Amino acid sequence: MVNKRKIGVLVSGRGSNLQALMDEIAAGTLNVEITVVISDKKDAFALERAEKAGIKAVAVSRKECASKEEFEEKITAALEEAGAELVVLAGFMRILSPAFVGHWHHKIVNIHPALLPSFPGLDGQGQALNYGVKIAGCTVHFVDEGTDSGPIILQKAVPVLDDDTHDTLADRILEQEHKALPEAVRLWSEGRLQIEGRHVKVLPAER
Ligand code: GRF
Repeated sequence: MVNKRKIGVLVSGRGSNLQALMDEIAAGTLNVEITVVISDKKDAFALERAEKAGIKAVAVSRKECASKEEFEEKITAALEEAGAELVVLAGFMRILSPAFVGHWHHKIVNIHPALLPSFPGLDGQGQALNYGVKIAGCTVHFVDEGTDSGPIILQKAVPVLDDDTHDTLADRILEQEHKALPEAVRLWSEGRLQIEGRHVKVLPAER
């Protein structure tokens, strides 16, 4: 049997996207192994979820590092120790430096709660609601040196309803995030993502 590909997941908060990955792995629909979960927040609920599932959970506090460089070096060391081949940003709320992104070139994916290139940065859901768009959604993309600007792997759309509040729209988008992120990681694990400049081609499944 072929070894499962190993991924590391970076989180900052409640970890519902991490949970979606763990649930699909448990269900047998995602054939990867999460070998480490790393949070920049010691009290992130995501760390508890990882521990409960028997996954190595590591907190790397930015405040306890002398520089951003040291902070990222610690993250890279934990990822490498865990043998991670892909870094999944699942609600990780820090901008990574060009040095980190360069080290993990085309090996970092991020889930963003908006249809990029619209509404990058913080609170994509609120930005969409305030703008008055009729369609919102989420994007999974490879990470490049910009903010939410890397090549797009897949997107899922949802309607924006007249009576939406921030919470109702965010919940509708989150439901799609929980499908999009495992789907993108599955495509990666099957070797089906081919990056050509800004374009990510999804190759057909092997039969
Ligand atoms: C998600 O909406 C994600 O797109 C955004 O932060 C949120 C994280 O949620 N970047 P969770 O921690 O995965 O529950």
